[in-house]
Amino acid sequence: MISLTRSKLGGAIFLIIGILALCHLVTARLFDQPEIFIDNFKWSNDDFSEITEHIFDNLDQVKTKYDNKWAKVLTHNAFPDYKIKLKEPQMCDPTVQQYSGYLDAGNKKHFFFWFFESRGNPLNDPIVLWLNGGPGCSSLTGLYFELGPCAVNEEGTDTIFNPHSWNNNASVIFLDQPINVGYSYGNGVSNSLAAATDVYAFLQIFFKEFPQYANLDFHIAGESYAGHYIPAIAAEINNNNKGTSSWILANQPKNLKHINLDSVLIGNGLVDPLVQYKYYADMACNSSYGPVLQESTCQQMRDAYPQCASMIQRCYDSSNAFACLPASMYCNREMIQPYQQTGLNVYDIRKPCEGGGLCYPILKAIEKFSNRNDIKTELGVDPSVEYKSCNMEINFKFQLAGDWMRPYHLLIPPLLDSNIRVLVYAGDADFICNWFGNDAWVKELEWSGKKDFNDAKVTSWKTSDGEQAGEVRTFGKFTFLRVYEAGHMVPYDQPRASLDFFNRWLSKGDL
Ligand SMILES: *[C@@H]1O[C@H](CO)[C@@H](O)[C@H](O)[C@H]1NC(C)=O
Ligand SMILES: *[C@@H]1O[C@H](CO)[C@@H](O)[C@H](O)[C@H]1NC(C)=O
Repeated sequence: MISLTRSKLGGAIFLIIGILALCHLVTARLFDQPEIFIDNFKWSNDDFSEITEHIFDNLDQVKTKYDNKWAKVLTHNAFPDYKIKLKEPQMCDPTVQQYSGYLDAGNKKHFFFWFFESRGNPLNDPIVLWLNGGPGCSSLTGLYFELGPCAVNEEGTDTIFNPHSWNNNASVIFLDQPINVGYSYGNGVSNSLAAATDVYAFLQIFFKEFPQYANLDFHIAGESYAGHYIPAIAAEINNNNKGTSSWILANQPKNLKHINLDSVLIGNGLVDPLVQYKYYADMACNSSYGPVLQESTCQQMRDAYPQCASMIQRCYDSSNAFACLPASMYCNREMIQPYQQTGLNVYDIRKPCEGGGLCYPILKAIEKFSNRNDIKTELGVDPSVEYKSCNMEINFKFQLAGDWMRPYHLLIPPLLDSNIRVLVYAGDADFICNWFGNDAWVKELEWSGKKDFNDAKVTSWKTSDGEQAGEVRTFGKFTFLRVYEAGHMVPYDQPRASLDFFNRWLSKGDL
C-alpha cells in the first residue's frame, strides 16, 4: 500500500532540513507536503542519510529483550551475526504447519515473519515470499486483508478462514520489513536495498533448517511500494546465486544454497516513476470508469508533468537524495493531491475514502486484533511492540532518503536475462499505482525482448471458471496482466480470479 497523509512532524523536519541544506529546493511549499507510502536504493552519497538518521535516532523504537519461549533458534556459519527465533502458532490456519518469530540481524534489527505451509502438497508446492509496500506498511495487511489463510473480522475480535488463500497451493512467508514496520523493530536504514541482504540471510538460515523446502521453486510477490523492494531483493538473490555480489566476493562464504528464484510478481507497483507519473491525469479523466476530476484539473496535472519528469530524470541521473527528494515532493503534490482532495479512495476510484488516511476501516480492526497480548504471545511478539498497519515515520524517512523516485526498474532486465520470470499485474480501478502507468512502463522497459513484447497481441484472460477477468500481454519471461474490476489490493477485490492467476503463474502455465 502506498499511503499519503499529512503530518506536522513532516513539516517540522522539512523545516530543519530546509535550513540545513535544501535552500535551493525549487519553490516547493514545504508545509503542504503529503507523506506517501511506497520503498528504497543504496546511496552512493551517504551524507544526507546520516543527517536524517541522526534526527530520527530518538524516534526509533528501542525495545528491551523479551524472554520468549522459542520452539527453536536457528543459526548459520556463513551469517554469524544472524539468527532466527521461531514459534509454531496454531491460529489463523490450524490445518497447516506454521512458523512465526524474528530474524535478528545483529542486536539492532529484528524482522518479524510468519510462514504458512501449503494446504495442498507442501513437499512439492513452491515457496512464496509476500511483501506489502508503503513504505512502512505491514505485510500482515496482505495476510489479513488480501490473500492470507485467514481474514480479521470487522470487529477485530477474531479471524475468518479464507478459502481463496494463496497458501492453497504454495507455502507463503509474510515478512515485515524494513525495520519498525508491523511487528518488526530496531534501528534500520531507510532504503529499499537495505533489507535485501537480510532477506537473503533469512532464506539461507531457513532453508538450512528446513531442507525439504530448499529445493522447491521460490517466488517473491508483493504490491505497491514493493515494486521497489522486489527488484532489489531479487537482484541480491540472483547476484548471490551467481557468486558475483560484492558480499560473496568479499566473504567467500561456504555452505550456501542456491535459492531457486523462479519468478517475481509485482501487483500495482511503483517501479518506474518517470513513466508512471505521466498517467495520473489519464486515470482520473480517461479511465473506463469515467472521469472523477474536472477536465481542467486533469489538464493542470498534464501541464505539470514536464516539470515533474525533469525532476525525476535528475533523480535517476544522480542517485542523490538532494535530487530525488524535490521530485517526490513536487510530483506527489501536483499529481496525487488534487485527487485526494475529492475524498475518493486513492486505492480504488470507484469508492470514497473511509476510515482515515488508509481508506479501509478494516485496517483499524486489524490493528486492534494485532495489538492483543494473547495474539502477540502466540506469535512470539513482545507485548511492548506496538503494531501499526502503516508506520508514517518510516514512510517519511524513505522520502527524505530520496528512495521514492529511484529507478528500480533498471534491476528487472538482468532478472529476465537470468531466466527469472516477471509478472506485472494491475487492478484497473486503482488510482495511486494505476494500470495505465504500469501498462506504459512495461512497454518502455529496455530489455532484449522489448520489441517482441510490444508487438505481442493482447489477449483476454479467462479464469478456469470461464470468466473474462482481464487482459494479458506476454513475451518470453515477461508478462503484464490487467485485472478488471479490481483496485490497488487485487486479491481483496477479486479473490477467486487472483488465486486463479497466482496458481497458474506458479505452475508455469499461460495466463
Ligand atoms: C491445490 O491444493 C488443493 C488443496 O488446497 C488440492 O485439492 C488441489 O489438488 C491442489 N491443486 C494442484 C494443481 O495441485
Ligand atoms: C481522453 O478521452 C477523450 C474522449 O474519450 C479523448 O478525446 C482524449 O483524447 C483522451 N485524452 C487522452 C490524453 O488520452
